[in-house]
Amino acid sequence: MRSLLTRRSFMKKTSAGLTGAALAVTGTSSLYANAGNKSSKLALLGGSPVRRRSFNQPWPIFDDNEEKSLLKALRSRNWCCLRGNAVYDFQKEFARAMGVRHCVLTNGGTTALSASLHCLGVGPGDEVITTPNTFIATINVICNAHALPVFVDIDPDTGLIDADLIEAAITEDTKVILPVHLAGFPADIEKIMSVAGKHNIPVVEDACQSVFAEVNGRKVGTFGTTGCISFQEWKSLVCGEGGALLGNDDELMRRCAAFVNNGRDPKRARRGYPFPGSNHRMTEFQAAVLTEQFKRFKQQDETRQKNGKYLERELAKIPGIKPRKAYCEKTRFTYVTFELDYNKKHFNNVPASRFAEALRAEGIPVSGRARRYSNGCHKEGMLEEHLESHAFRVSFSRARLKKYRESLHMPIIDNTRPSGKEMLFMEGKIALLGPKKDIDDITEAFVKVAKNVDKLT
Ligand SMILES: Cc1ncc(COP(=O)(O)O)c(C=O)c1O
Repeated sequence: MRSLLTRRSFMKKTSAGLTGAALAVTGTSSLYANAGNKSSKLALLGGSPVRRRSFNQPWPIFDDNEEKSLLKALRSRNWCCLRGNAVYDFQKEFARAMGVRHCVLTNGGTTALSASLHCLGVGPGDEVITTPNTFIATINVICNAHALPVFVDIDPDTGLIDADLIEAAITEDTKVILPVHLAGFPADIEKIMSVAGKHNIPVVEDACQSVFAEVNGRKVGTFGTTGCISFQEWKSLVCGEGGALLGNDDELMRRCAAFVNNGRDPKRARRGYPFPGSNHRMTEFQAAVLTEQFKRFKQQDETRQKNGKYLERELAKIPGIKPRKAYCEKTRFTYVTFELDYNKKHFNNVPASRFAEALRAEGIPVSGRARRYSNGCHKEGMLEEHLESHAFRVSFSRARLKKYRESLHMPIIDNTRPSGKEMLFMEGKIALLGPKKDIDDITEAFVKVAKNVDKLT
């Protein structure tokens, strides 16, 4: 793809460079000049927008294939996976695609996580090390097992768990380390695995938002003792509600398969209900949709790769905008959410939220703030409810709970040591599925807002 602007041309065309941060442009060619013409007035201030056509096409995307597949399941009268093939066939297909020995499908990512914790023996009195910057489901499963979620602060560069702080959080009660790969951006999983290995602690990866993201050629969700994926409708591979539990340990995965199926032995070596369990099974309808969606997903994922990388390259030419940090050179982001670092010092101290507001007025659906989950799960009311519950009071000493409450302050996520880092993000899942012209519109709008940022103060 031909580059729209180079970092050098950006700098050359900005008469003031970064002095004061207002980016005035004097050049007259290419996108830059076009943006310059249109940018005589920002849409937010009454000018005409870069783009009028919406990026928000309906999601999820489906066609006759999903309809036929659903009808086939319906007409088969085998709606429960115990009598059908779709769930068990997809388990095999997904395990192969992810590169693991076993996949157990569930009715959600939450239940995949909770089955993992249960089968790893997490229970009252235990501690699970995790991140406060995640969707609440990650924390709910820990608390519902009557274990303490021990929060480790985030890396200000990524918003993901700071792997360097994990070792200090390990105690003799640590049962599991539960890192989260957010929105297609992998956590520092190799370092996490090495700390966990040193202390012989299992890792459950929450890869619910990050199907097909990779580190050194290996898919996230396949590094840990188990890995969990969500197929809930807002994710990138979807069937309404659904989840997958991945792993290579034959015996553990046998227990996981049993756990989601009321304790039945998947190997049928033991009769009756030999294992603890519940019913977290996926239905044949979900699997029928998922099977078709997976075909579509592979192609969508490639398109997002191509567009995401191109957009990152273009936007990185704007001083003050940077792609997200990767923990190793060979990292594959999946851009479920397309995220960028935003350094307001380069933009007249205009906050990311204001910069994003101007982009939205230009027709580009971008949000801006300090991080994805603003407050952090350690601030949620449900935590204190758990700590006060009978189950927690009998499982943990008063002194432990007091110490725990005192530990719920972390400088980076609480912003008591402000990193000054902010981010811009966009639903890449949908916006990055279009043609190159869409991506060029996004770049053009960013350039236009960057050049006129002084008018936003
Ligand atoms: C990080 C994370 N973990 C767990 C889950 C739970 O997945 P599900 O909604 O499929 O139960 C989600 C879903 O949003 C998630 O984003």
